[in-house]
Amino acid sequence: MPNEESTISPEEQEKLIHAKQEWAHTFDAVSDLIFIVDNDLKFLRVNRAMAEHCGCRPEELVGRKCFEVIHGTKSAPDNCLHAKVIELGKPQTAEFIVEKLGGIFEVTMSPMFNTDGRITATVHVARDITEKRRHEELLAAQQKQLEEINNTLESRITEAVAELRKKDDILIQQSRLTAMGEMISNVAHQWRQPLNNVGLIVQNLQLAFKSNDLSVEELDEDIAEIMKVLQQISETIDDFRNFFSYEEKPCSFIVNELVSRSLSFVEPSLKRKGILIELDEQPDIVVSGYPNEYMQAFLNVMLNARDALLGHQVSMPLISIRISGENGRSIATVRDNGGGIREDILPKIFDPYFTTKHQSTGVGLGLYMAKMIIEKKMHGTLTARNVDGGAEFRIEV
Ligand SMILES: Nc1ncnc2c1ncn2[C@@H]1O[C@H](COP(=O)(O)OP(=O)(O)OP(=O)(O)O)[C@@H](O)[C@H]1O
Ligand SMILES: [Mg+2]
Repeated sequence: MPNEESTISPEEQEKLIHAKQEWAHTFDAVSDLIFIVDNDLKFLRVNRAMAEHCGCRPEELVGRKCFEVIHGTKSAPDNCLHAKVIELGKPQTAEFIVEKLGGIFEVTMSPMFNTDGRITATVHVARDITEKRRHEELLAAQQKQLEEINNTLESRITEAVAELRKKDDILIQQSRLTAMGEMISNVAHQWRQPLNNVGLIVQNLQLAFKSNDLSVEELDEDIAEIMKVLQQISETIDDFRNFFSYEEKPCSFIVNELVSRSLSFVEPSLKRKGILIELDEQPDIVVSGYPNEYMQAFLNVMLNARDALLGHQVSMPLISIRISGENGRSIATVRDNGGGIREDILPKIFDPYFTTKHQSTGVGLGLYMAKMIIEKKMHGTLTARNVDGGAEFRIEV
């Protein structure tokens, strides 16, 4: 009589077949490469993903030596895990670069035991990690790049700031050259009168000498007069030369004196154009900073006032300057009656290269430079507003 326990009912048989099919489907559905090899390293079973990687059908691989198919070699590679799995009886994992399959694989090899506990085969599950490794390498490279950027960031910022400073200095220098052009024409006018005087004195001397009418006292007097005039001319040259020298360190200066000196450069030409200048000042306001650059900022503001007055053909053109002191600070305001600044452009006038003038007369750097000098170099403020009939600039240092 057959053993009741070993008989399998048709229903159970059906179930078993179903389970086997299901397992086979699962085996084939997995995207990892799965294959089972016997102790002679011959394929016993191969899933669809593995077969596809090898470019054939699963049944075509069965019975072939795995190393021939996978590595294209006549024997197993040195790092093959098979011997180790057999020896230790435990799963082992390692990474392989498999050129023939065109990628990097993470392989876990596990032993399969028979009922006696002997290992009869090994199951290999290989995962293609080529993309993962590529991303990791990319990430590592980016990380390294980032670290390098971080390491050099500080020095590069310092370099960039120094570069900007240099550019600013060049701009200041350029704008100073523009002011210089303006001043040279004034110097020529300033010198005409004293030079004429010297000429007259010398002519008179000559006449007096020829007519034997020259006393030692008269000669001394005339020479003293000539020396005085020459001294004035020489001072203009000094002012002029000082204005173009570069100031490395801040120093104390009297705002009133500086404004007067600046005016001496531009006043004659403004007067010739019918512009009146009013100066209202508290005496001797002392501040610390860079006098030449202050003068440059002040002159830029003055020249803008002149341009506005001439541009609008104002009937009684006037520039009023006030110098006062407040809480240890100096305030110089320059006000004109040239029609003021359009409200919509008022916020832009200090921007570099902002100008409403024809390109032959303005590049739009004057106020930008002035602001930089007053605010960045001297930690003061330079502001503008419209007042009755004109614009007012306020320089506070
Ligand atoms: N006093 C003022 N009245 C009216 N508008 C002014 C006055 N001062 C400045 N502006 C306006 O501000 C603009 C910018 O002045 P800024 O001095 O920066 O440049 P610019 O005078 O046009 O050219 P640059 O000074 O470089 O020769 C001027 O073009 C003008 O429109
Ligand atoms: Mg200007």
